[in-house]
Amino acid sequence: TREQHLQSILATVPDAMIIIDETGDITSFSAAAQRLFGYSETELVGRNVSCLMPQPDRDRHDEYIAHYLQTGERRIIGLGRVVVGQRRDGSTFPMQLSVGEAGEDGQRLFTGFIRDLTAKEQDELRLKELQ
Ligand code: HEM
Repeated sequence: TREQHLQSILATVPDAMIIIDETGDITSFSAAAQRLFGYSETELVGRNVSCLMPQPDRDRHDEYIAHYLQTGERRIIGLGRVVVGQRRDGSTFPMQLSVGEAGEDGQRLFTGFIRDLTAKEQDELRLKELQ
């Protein structure tokens, strides 16, 4: 079935992948996302994606989505952006976020791909120290 296909993708995709509905609630959370953020999928399904980011975005993320739904103006979808994520233990890290949109039976879903930039940032800092 489609659901089994989706589950196999979520279990194997190397980047963290998160699917949310149009209210921001998480519907799927990949194995790599679980390792990156420190939450299990069952803990996060049904919770708002804003719990994965620090302030001020945490309080504003619902408005970001609502603004997009009202205006169609894309600020991340199709563009990508480097933003800050927050793990379960409260620590924060830089991440490359790509967001895509999928519509299913009138229901709109957003698919987020996340790449942890921590190692890249540390490499750049080390390089600076050497110069
Ligand atoms: C918009 C931050 C994760 C879906 C935005 C914006 C920011 C942001 C700053 C644009 C605000 C603006 O300029 O108006 C973050 C942060 C995340 C995160 C810090 C860290 C976890 C996600 C994930 C998804 C997602 C995982 C989808 C699964 C969206 C959507 C929009 C949006 C649909 C509105 C459309 C758009 O602006 O193109 N987010 N986001 N976000 N985000 Fe997130």
